[in-house]
Amino acid sequence: MNSIYKIEKKLDLTQEDQKKILYDYENINYDKKGLEEYILENYNLDVKGKYGELEIKNPFGKASGQLSSNINQVKTDANDGLGFVVLKTVISQDKDNKSSMEEWKVNAPKMVVEEIESKSGEIGYTVTWKGRGWDKSFEDYLDLVKESYNVYKQSKVPVIPSIQYHLPNIGEDFKESEYKYTTQSIEKIWKDESLDMPFVIEQDFSATLASMENSQDEIIRWIQEVPRLIHKYTSAKDFILGMKLFNPSLGDEFQVKMLEVLNQMKDKVQVITAFNRLFDREREFEGKKGIAYGGYDLSNRNLRVLDKFIENNHSFIPISATGNINSGRMMVEYALRGATSGQMHTYFQLPSHNYKLKEGSRARKAIHELMFNPTDGLVPVMIHLKKKLNMDNDQILKFLDIYTLCNSGKN
Ligand SMILES: Cc1cc2nc3c(=O)[nH]c(=O)nc-3n(C[C@H](O)[C@H](O)[C@H](O)COP(=O)(O)O)c2cc1C
Repeated sequence: MNSIYKIEKKLDLTQEDQKKILYDYENINYDKKGLEEYILENYNLDVKGKYGELEIKNPFGKASGQLSSNINQVKTDANDGLGFVVLKTVISQDKDNKSSMEEWKVNAPKMVVEEIESKSGEIGYTVTWKGRGWDKSFEDYLDLVKESYNVYKQSKVPVIPSIQYHLPNIGEDFKESEYKYTTQSIEKIWKDESLDMPFVIEQDFSATLASMENSQDEIIRWIQEVPRLIHKYTSAKDFILGMKLFNPSLGDEFQVKMLEVLNQMKDKVQVITAFNRLFDREREFEGKKGIAYGGYDLSNRNLRVLDKFIENNHSFIPISATGNINSGRMMVEYALRGATSGQMHTYFQLPSHNYKLKEGSRARKAIHELMFNPTDGLVPVMIHLKKKLNMDNDQILKFLDIYTLCNSGKN
């Protein structure tokens, strides 16, 4: 087994627990009560997660991308069990519709889901495509945000807009007019809708940035300046800023440094989403050379970097994990390294033999599997952790306590 993992391959479960989980895997028993309530009552497990200080009913969210680009996708995800949804990334623009990153608005609907073998020999999946950011108009994006906020009002499932702002080369200035117009336009919708939820945005450092070979100094400048500029143009007191980091090809130590630099800005940054996909400069898809990819190389790298980071940093900005979260088990691997939620894209696109449920939406099939898969679901893995922590059956283990309970004594 790959030695990065902290959870034993074979879970320590009683026969009684195994039977109970199998029964729940084969039968859907939670619709009446609600999934999280059912798990709490029947297993003494509290699966609530958080995005920063924002509470979510379970840690599993839709990552920004092609699967959160229209309102029907958002509605289905909210109704069928996801904890939160991050909308497709819009490219920032100024009030005259000018975007310095115009070429990031790529219309490329074709996605191919493929198996991919990691360097450690594990077989996973990756989605290949050649698109980048939101390719319709900014007004269309604002409509999606507004409609999504209405989905939140009905479902209480948080929906988070995602933005990629202008990122200058060294020596160039940041296009502040784009920061201003984009942030204020989205904030206005939040205000007008009078939501009982903080104003939340996630800033995306796209995986494709890795192709541009920016220097460490350039990237550190972005990481320090972007949150400052977003704050400059936000007036909401109740504001959560998530910063989604990419995986530049500059080695693990630099990746740790990015986390450390962001952690010096706790007054501006409330969540770090770690880390966007890897980038292969040589790989080609439909005539385009240089393609982002995922699978186990991505989760291995992310887990390894987070291990290095938490070794020397014991209190840090909450992490929202992303990268090959393909099971409750993988979610817990990230939680053991400080994650309080997880964002998935590829997992919703797998061939259908990967899900037990044969009917219903991808969100429903995924969440059922993520919770109850008998060997890799969140429920069996958390029961296994309870045993390791010497907790009694009637004690409640909270997902959000996993990091502290399992790391106490080590730090
Ligand atoms: C087709 C596709 C489109 C994506 N578009 C975006 C995007 O617009 N903004 C963003 O922040 N991440 C984007 N991502 C990255 C995902 O949000 C996610 O962080 C990444 O794929 C890792 O998760 P996964 O291994 O579950 O796919 C995209 C990923 C894919 C596969």
